[in-house]
Amino acid sequence: TTNQSWGGRFSEPTDAFVARFTASVTFDQRLARQDIQGSIAHATMLARVGVLTDEERDAIINGLTEIQGEIERGEFNWSVPLEDVHMNIEARLTDKIGITGKKLHTGRSRNDQVATDIRLFMRDEIDVIEVELKRLREGMIELADREADTIMPGFTHLQTAQPVTFGHHLLAWQEMLARDHERLLDCRKRVNVLPLGAAALAGTTYPIDRHVTAELLGFDRPAENSLDAVSDRDFAIEFTSFASILMMHLSRMSEELVLWTSAQFNFIDLPDRFCTGSSIMPQKKNPDVPELVRGKTGRVYGHLMGLLTLMKSQPLAYNKDNQEDKEPLFDAVDTVRDCLKAFADMIPAIEPKKDSMYEAARRGFSTATDLADYLVRRGVAFRDAHEIVGQSVAYGLKTQKDLSEMSLEELQQFSTIIEQDVFDVLTLEGSVAARNHIGGTAPDQVRAAAQRAREALSLL
Ligand code: ARG
Repeated sequence: TTNQSWGGRFSEPTDAFVARFTASVTFDQRLARQDIQGSIAHATMLARVGVLTDEERDAIINGLTEIQGEIERGEFNWSVPLEDVHMNIEARLTDKIGITGKKLHTGRSRNDQVATDIRLFMRDEIDVIEVELKRLREGMIELADREADTIMPGFTHLQTAQPVTFGHHLLAWQEMLARDHERLLDCRKRVNVLPLGAAALAGTTYPIDRHVTAELLGFDRPAENSLDAVSDRDFAIEFTSFASILMMHLSRMSEELVLWTSAQFNFIDLPDRFCTGSSIMPQKKNPDVPELVRGKTGRVYGHLMGLLTLMKSQPLAYNKDNQEDKEPLFDAVDTVRDCLKAFADMIPAIEPKKDSMYEAARRGFSTATDLADYLVRRGVAFRDAHEIVGQSVAYGLKTQKDLSEMSLEELQQFSTIIEQDVFDVLTLEGSVAARNHIGGTAPDQVRAAAQRAREALSLL
């Protein structure tokens, strides 16, 4: 059969395959709540400006509210021939309240309707995602504060570089998330603009008041240009950009968690509830959660690229192409929400193996830079100091001794300037404590940074 909402000009029914091919109801029914919310606001505005009577408005609102209940109870019968969520709900409304239901679409098009629905949906999801992101940041800051004195090796090129504190490392992660948080809130500003009233593309002849609709739906303002309002999907691209960068950060953290739980690093333990075993190797405990987060990063990048490509070269205004925006967006939203939840649950449960981290920092000559700085403080030029320490390290490699394990006489072979007080700077504690400025790894700085991070987060 030809679709009842636009069949008037057609002389034969839609091909059965085409009806299925062009329908979106199997996935866009996820927008039902927002579709009803938007329709109620639209009807309210139409009554306010005299296009609908108050009785008509009330009949529409009551009907839509009942439909909402039917959908929530799983009693709603979604029809593929009715194409999408919008026409399914409108058809049901007309079933229920008769001719008044047919007046709801006055001054509106599915083009501005769907754009409004997605924006309402994205706003809701952004707010849920923000709660999880906050929870993750809070947990990370608290763990960092607890681990402000815990010493581990810091790496460059994944080779032992200089000792750092575990708290400092965790606050590095937290900084990444703080930027992601800003990006999310910035994206929300551009999501929160009302397309409704743009109608199909040019606006409408009815005396609509878009400020009323915007206010009823909690949008900051009506979109400025009707052509742009129905065709803009920048906000979806912005969200998936935010999501891609966030996932990139989570994948970096995941990679470190996976490395750290290995026997070879042995820096942390993840509680059993975040891990799984092997069906063949009885000894195994695998860090599946961080591995999966790392893996899921790929699909979010894919959705960003998919949406950019979807929008590329589209002429104004609405094109059916845009129906393809929903599935990537839904999947990106679900993936980000789940990954953040997993991390927010898991991070506070990390159990650092402090002795093992400390031992790893002691190996690998991580205080070599401190020895060079010591010589510089005693008047040696930095390049000469570098050479002297390099020779000490070569000696240590041969004799299997760390710098702090050498006797004063052994160290003095390389420079007679070295005295007993050198051992103060060669300890790991001395090394981290000496980096005592904003952004440095000293435990006192880590505690201060955690406090600043806590305050910044509480202001959001
Ligand atoms: N299902 C469509 C979408 O998701 C709704 C808008 C369709 N408008 C149209 N004129 N075909 O984009």
